[in-house]
Parts: sequence; C-alpha cells; structure tokens
Amino acid sequence: MLKRFFSYFIPVMVYQKKSEINKNLEVTWNNGQLVLDSKNTNYSYGSLQRILRKGLQYIGFERIRNFEQILVLGVAGGSVIKTLAEEIKCKGHITGVEIDPAVIAIANEYFGLDRIPNVEIIIDDAFEFILKTKNRYDLIIIDIFQDLTMPNFLFEEFFIHRINYLLRKEGFILFNTMTLTPEHTQRNLDYRSKFDSDYSVRMYPKVEDHNELYTIKKLR
Ligand SMILES: C[S@@+](CC[C@H](N)C(=O)[O-])C[C@H]1O[C@@H](n2cnc3c(N)ncnc32)[C@H](O)[C@@H]1O
Repeated sequence: MLKRFFSYFIPVMVYQKKSEINKNLEVTWNNGQLVLDSKNTNYSYGSLQRILRKGLQYIGFERIRNFEQILVLGVAGGSVIKTLAEEIKCKGHITGVEIDPAVIAIANEYFGLDRIPNVEIIIDDAFEFILKTKNRYDLIIIDIFQDLTMPNFLFEEFFIHRINYLLRKEGFILFNTMTLTPEHTQRNLDYRSKFDSDYSVRMYPKVEDHNELYTIKKLR
C-alpha cells in the first residue's frame, strides 16, 4: 500500500526480470496503478490498456460481448484480456498467444491473469500458432512488440491472408502499431493497401504517443 501511495509522486519498481525476447521486464507502481513495462515502453496496463480499450470502443462493447471466439496475439500482463472480461463482460472464449513464458509468469503473479475465467493461454510464436489453429475467430487482436520493435511478418501478405482466413464473416481485427520513423508510416500505408473491398479498414492515428490503431472488418 505504501508503494502504491509513493507511486503518485515517483514510479516504484517492485519486480524486474531480464528476458531473452523482451530484454527487460519491469513491474512498477505508477500513479497508483501496477503496470508492466519493457526497457523502453509500456507493455500492459497504463497507456497500453487505454489504447486497446479505445480500439474496442470503436468496434463496440455491445457487439464484442456477444462474440464467441476471441484471439489475442501478444498477451504480456493481459490488460486487454482484463478489459474484455471485466469491463466488457465478454462471454466468449479468449485464446491468448504469447511467445515469452517470463511474461506469463508475471501476468499470473502480479496481474491475476490465471484467475480470469474462459481464458486459455498458449505459449507459442504467434506466427506458428496461426498456421496450426483450426478455429475461426470473431475478433483477432494483434498487439505484438519486442520492446519497440514490431516483427516484419506482421506486415507481410502471408500473415495478413492467414489472419483474414481465420476471421469469421462480420468479424474484426484490432491491430496496434507504432510509427516512430517515416519508414514506419510508409509501412503502415502499404499495410492498409493490402485489403480489398471485402474489408473495411479504419485507422485511428496517434491514440497515444506514436500508436496508430487499425480496425478491420470482414464484410463478406
Ligand atoms: C505490448 S505487449 C502486449 C500487451 C497485451 N496485449 C496487453 O493487453 O496487456 C507485446 C507482447 O508481444 C509479445 N510477443 C512478441 N513477439 C511475439 C510473437 N512472435 N508471438 C507472440 N507474442 C509475441 C511480447 O512478448 C509482449 O509480451
């Protein structure tokens, strides 16, 4: 409680772990809230949770509440899963895919991820998982970062086509991206152009800092 109180004045770190994938993971009390950060950015809760919540609002809480199958690629501390379960009161099944086991250990211990019902966590590379899964999804949230870096595969045709195939008709993709350089801005423009008229693509610029958020609806 004392740490939480002091965190209104200065961030108070309570746990730190080196990770091969994410370099450095830190659990910190910040402004009275427990957050998970990597070396250079917020990973879970804090601004990241606000960004994804905004994206879910664009899609519509009411609509999401009735989705049966939700896929979250990039789980970290599980803040979007918490928003889905506790704020939206989602009834469907949530599958979370996370490459870094160290992150899931933190999510369970500090953020109670393993106490949320109807959630299945799979430790795997998202790219491998989407090749293997036999399910189809109403909502696919893509939130994959290794510190500030987004892996290239996310923007490649192969991954985009496979995700589109896994998406049910009338389903949504929520894609969180970061644009730190002119190349990133161009990469995002190219990404947008890869969807044909079967999809409705919307971009919400600068939700916070350098985040550009996409919602993509599969129309037919
Ligand atoms: C910004 S965090 C995700 C935050 C999370 N969506 C939330 O709501 O709290 C990015 C996560 O992507 C994970 N990640 C990076 N590369 C991955 C990959 N190829 N497959 C699955 N997860 C990956 C990282 O380990 C990190 O936990």
